[in-house]
Amino acid sequence: MRRNMTLSVVLVLMTFTEGITAIHHVTCPAEPIQAREDDNVTLQCRLVPPVDLRRYILDFTRADLQYKVVHTYQDGRDLSYPQMDQYRNRTTLIHEDLIQGTMTLKIYSVQMSDSGRYECYVPDLTAYCTLCLTVVRKDQDNRTNTTTIEPEKPGKCL
Ligand SMILES: *[C@@H]1O[C@H](CO)[C@@H](O)[C@H](O)[C@H]1NC(C)=O
Ligand SMILES: *[C@@H]1O[C@H](CO)[C@@H](O)[C@H](O)[C@H]1NC(C)=O
Ligand SMILES: *[C@@H]1O[C@H](CO)[C@@H](O)[C@H](O)[C@H]1NC(C)=O
Ligand SMILES: *[C@@H]1O[C@H](CO)[C@@H](O)[C@H](O)[C@H]1NC(C)=O
Repeated sequence: MRRNMTLSVVLVLMTFTEGITAIHHVTCPAEPIQAREDDNVTLQCRLVPPVDLRRYILDFTRADLQYKVVHTYQDGRDLSYPQMDQYRNRTTLIHEDLIQGTMTLKIYSVQMSDSGRYECYVPDLTAYCTLCLTVVRKDQDNRTNTTTIEPEKPGKCL
């Protein structure tokens, strides 16, 4: 008897949770993230409303390169095999941030080829967003005497 009641409560809660997931979305920075060659950059996407993401599959991909994998996380672990060679050993997903519903990906020593459009994706919540990373040459600042960094290939990320 008591067991049946518990089961009912669990079923009701599951239905409720399902209803909630439909309204989740991920937010990305609206402005391009700008960096210089060899900088370490941080890409950050937030789930709204926040959910503990530690149990979810999480993907960072290159939206401009047929959604090839930059970093992927599953069953509480980072998976290296689907990752593009370009990003091998250069990415870290900050696991502590997942508890607050934030996907923080560090990319170390960025290169020009890292410029592009990235997607954060939470398949189970059908939630995704895209953001732009623009990497400029290290020596560009000296020559172009400007405070704003010009994208190497304008429009690449629109
Ligand atoms: C990038 O991170 C690495 C490893 O933490 C560190 O050794 C390096 O100094 C950092 N580079 C910059 C430009 O901050
Ligand atoms: C990445 O790190 C692993 C383990 O340290 C190493 O065996 C592998 O050669 C590295 N790969 C690249 C592309 O640097
Ligand atoms: C740019 O400035 C830095 C720091 O002043 C200097 O070390 C570097 O050699 C300069 N690069 C060029 C291409 O002039
Ligand atoms: C930038 O340009 C201004 C005016 O042309 C010049 O006075 C200044 O010295 C330049 N700064 C650098 C860092 O080259």
